[in-house]
Amino acid sequence: MAISSGVDVFAKVRESERVAQAQAAREVGVLPYFREVQGPARPIVEMEGQARIMLGSNNYLGLTGDPRVIAGARDALERYGTGLTGSRFLNGTTALHLELEQELADWMGTEAAIVFTTGHQANLATIGTLVGPGETIVVDKGDHASLLDGAIQSRAKLRAFSHNRTDKLEQALRKATADGGGILVVVDGVFSMEGDIAPLREIAALCERYGARLMVDEAHAVGVLGARGAGTCELLGVEDRVDVRMGTFSKSLASCGGFIAADADVIEFLRLEARAFVFTAAGVPAAVGAALAALRVIRSDEGRELMAALLANAQRLNRGLHDLGFAVVEPTPVGEGTATLTPIVPVLVGEDWRCVLLWRALYDAGIFTNVAVHPAVPLDGALLRTSVMATHDAAVLDRALEIFATVKREFEAEHGPLPSAR
Ligand SMILES: Cc1ncc(COP(=O)(O)O)c(C=O)c1O
Repeated sequence: MAISSGVDVFAKVRESERVAQAQAAREVGVLPYFREVQGPARPIVEMEGQARIMLGSNNYLGLTGDPRVIAGARDALERYGTGLTGSRFLNGTTALHLELEQELADWMGTEAAIVFTTGHQANLATIGTLVGPGETIVVDKGDHASLLDGAIQSRAKLRAFSHNRTDKLEQALRKATADGGGILVVVDGVFSMEGDIAPLREIAALCERYGARLMVDEAHAVGVLGARGAGTCELLGVEDRVDVRMGTFSKSLASCGGFIAADADVIEFLRLEARAFVFTAAGVPAAVGAALAALRVIRSDEGRELMAALLANAQRLNRGLHDLGFAVVEPTPVGEGTATLTPIVPVLVGEDWRCVLLWRALYDAGIFTNVAVHPAVPLDGALLRTSVMATHDAAVLDRALEIFATVKREFEAEHGPLPSAR
């Protein structure tokens, strides 16, 4: 006789609201996810039978199709084969991984670095290993999901503060200090949806005052910001005041994988203790070879030119959309009367369904963008996330702006006004 609780764990599969919504959106042709793309993310891509302007890629420097990066991947593939079939801990490391770690540490100006198979795992492993029960992790509410996943895995107490509000961070630090135990503050350098920059000087000062350690996720900032492209910490002059810096290869570095740069003792601890490092297969040789080749381009004079072109393109798209009346993120002040943009140019839309309809109208008109709806963003804070690449040229971006103007006019005539520029 079967003995059953009467509850099927798969009930949630059948009752999932998200699945039902995706199905409904798919039926009427407005599902913005899993769209098929043919070829690398170039400024203009072939998607589902039509050429479209790519404004939805993190291939910021345009290096995924670069012959030198492809050669780096191919050489690694030929030398080491298609996969390493195990963890570096147990099954052997390669000279290529070690070389990449050394060059990353040199680039970031830290004693050491460790490479993970993905950026998500880098965050999960690092936070989940460095912090434990009885301690506190303080996060910005806009932090990337992988940072929150690391916090959950750690089983430490989680305190979240309102996005980029250092007064709220201080309140959280005060409470965490009263709770006792170690404290790790974790923020994105560049926020992945909002495209704005964390006030790292103020955050570092608060961490110093309250004896907390600071970790910065530089996924969208490495290869983008700072004279060396070492990210927000470099741009804001706080490299020596940040304890742990994370980066990913899945954006400017044109590959797949992630890294942590920190003091040698922290890196050694992660190498031996981080479960998402020890108990998973090493990044495939082609991915590591591509990242190393991309890193070398970024650190050359050409890298500086690519980063300058990238930020000039961000400026062109951001100001163009602003002038058309769209609500876009404003440049973040970085001191001494200067402000900076990042390649992420979000367009605030508001309600989820309006965002999806606007996405479809742009898609039909020849532009691919990304959609961020609740819970990725706050309720009624849906946005179209557009992003530029160094390899877009002015003519392509101007063409995109013309399309945005036409689509806005038609959309507002049918669905009412979109949020406007401040
Ligand atoms: C801010 C941030 N951190 C971490 C990650 C995870 O990186 P990866 O894609 O390499 O797993 C991402 C990527 O989506 C990200 O945007």
